[in-house]
Amino acid sequence: MEGVINHHMRQALTSVGGYDACVTEFLRITDQRLPSRVFKRLSPELAQQGQTTSGVPVILQLLGSDLEMMAANAHKAVQLGAPAIDINFGCPSKFVNRKMGGSILLREPERVHAIVAAVRKAVDAAIPVTAKMRLGYEDDMLALDNALAIEAAGATELTVHARTKIEGYTPPARWEALAPLREALIIPLIANGDIRSLDDYRRCVAASGCVDVMLGRGALNDPSLARQIKQYKPGDTIVPMDWCDITSLILVTSEQMEQEYLKKHVLMRIKQWLGMLRRDHQKGQQVFDEIRRMKILEDVKGVLRKGK
Ligand SMILES: Cc1cc2nc3c(=O)[nH]c(=O)nc-3n(C[C@H](O)[C@H](O)[C@H](O)COP(=O)(O)O)c2cc1C
Repeated sequence: MEGVINHHMRQALTSVGGYDACVTEFLRITDQRLPSRVFKRLSPELAQQGQTTSGVPVILQLLGSDLEMMAANAHKAVQLGAPAIDINFGCPSKFVNRKMGGSILLREPERVHAIVAAVRKAVDAAIPVTAKMRLGYEDDMLALDNALAIEAAGATELTVHARTKIEGYTPPARWEALAPLREALIIPLIANGDIRSLDDYRRCVAASGCVDVMLGRGALNDPSLARQIKQYKPGDTIVPMDWCDITSLILVTSEQMEQEYLKKHVLMRIKQWLGMLRRDHQKGQQVFDEIRRMKILEDVKGVLRKGK
């Protein structure tokens, strides 16, 4: 997730367990063949067989509509070690949409098809090409057309954020709108949107018929959510990660980020994460109240250590 999850966060979350794969933030493709360093910055995991240290594959996500450049950059990403390519048809940003990238393309299923087909053709058949879309732009009238176009173009999986672009991030996600897509598709359909707890997961599966889900913000609200989902069997009691373990995870992640970023940037990331953790953790709210005005990373870490 652009601006929220980077390779350090992927490392932290996959170390907790439960993830089959993760996806990078999107890489916007315009009219250029991007240099290797851009791909490596986005996905430092390329240097380790395209996996996090815990062995979870990191799919590289491209966003754009120039067929030749999408194909060329997908090819380059795979040459550099990306284990799979994902294409973003979900981004709602006005800037991105004005440049014909992200969710605006869902108005034109033929164009969606052409983009996926171009990328599919550009990379080895053994490399999965996946896509991520919303239900539509203004409405969901073309949801099925887009999903079928993506499948016909050779995508191996489709993730759908169960909202239109106009619906933004306003809850609730409409999981039930995924059911007809799931019934029509042969490739796996992965449900996404508002899965913030094990109970949300259960309700999403029941409403959509999808077996697999993608976590967005829920991964940060509850760092053990993927593990809980993976372990879940009806009737079982699943124990979420406790605050002490979450604190240790944040502190380790902070140390790793400090080796690469300025402390002020690490401070911003840690505060952002703590801000998201307060949604589900009472202790998270207390800690956030204490650190929200702090300007020095060491002070925030001191609060975290004290609260363990
Ligand atoms: C800050 C932010 C950045 C995001 N960046 C991306 C991105 O780079 N690529 C992508 O496919 N989705 C991105 N998304 C969308 C999420 O992956 C997800 O589809 C959406 O948040 C709904 O799922 P959730 O309710 O589980 O968060 C982003 C969402 C947010 C809030």
